[in-house]
Amino acid sequence: MDPVVRPIALADIASHRACLDAVGRERLWLAFVEAPPLPEVAAFVSRHLDGTQPMTVAVAGDQVVGWCDITRAERPIHTHKGIMGMGLLPEFRGRGLGRRLLAETLAGARQAGFRRIELTVRATNAPGIALYLALGFTEEGRLRDDFRLDGHVDDTLIMGLLFDGTS
Ligand SMILES: CC(C)(COP(=O)(O)OP(=O)(O)OC[C@H]1O[C@@H](n2cnc3c(N)ncnc32)[C@H](O)[C@@H]1OP(=O)(O)O)[C@@H](O)C(=O)NCCC(=O)NCCS
Repeated sequence: MDPVVRPIALADIASHRACLDAVGRERLWLAFVEAPPLPEVAAFVSRHLDGTQPMTVAVAGDQVVGWCDITRAERPIHTHKGIMGMGLLPEFRGRGLGRRLLAETLAGARQAGFRRIELTVRATNAPGIALYLALGFTEEGRLRDDFRLDGHVDDTLIMGLLFDGTS
């Protein structure tokens, strides 16, 4: 059965943390290599429950198998800007679920009044980059030699999306 894509709820926190942890421990995609402690994840999720910052999960049965969050940048000059993060458990990749998660979360961000969404992605993450380009992101910059772990050396791309139509 196709996973359900919906806004995250308080009851998802432990399962979401397990998903985050599994993707982090792959040590290939994210800026962290394990999930933060449960209270930290709970606090993060709680800030995404009132509609001001969207967070979406993909759920199979009662297990979170993927997430996408957009967090408002804090500095006064940046409050129009959201930072995006996402991931899926390996067995749920490559079948359009990432696209569903991101599209839903971007719709929430637009509704919440964000003007700009940005993200960083490893320069060799072909599925990620393909997805972001397909949903309107533009490559804005490259951090050279930014990723080094377990012998993997990579650049990081900065990508951005503007909701005013200029993309
Ligand atoms: C990146 C990720 C979220 C994408 O989600 P996904 O469900 O696998 O991707 P989708 O199936 O929705 O496909 C997205 C696009 O990538 C393309 N794609 C999929 N696999 C690909 C591959 N190996 N090479 C090139 N393009 C690929 C698809 O064709 C699709 O493009 P289209 O919609 O224009 O046809 C998911 O693969 C993932 O969780 N990866 C590991 C964690 C990660 O990279 N997180 C993001 C860090 S920035």
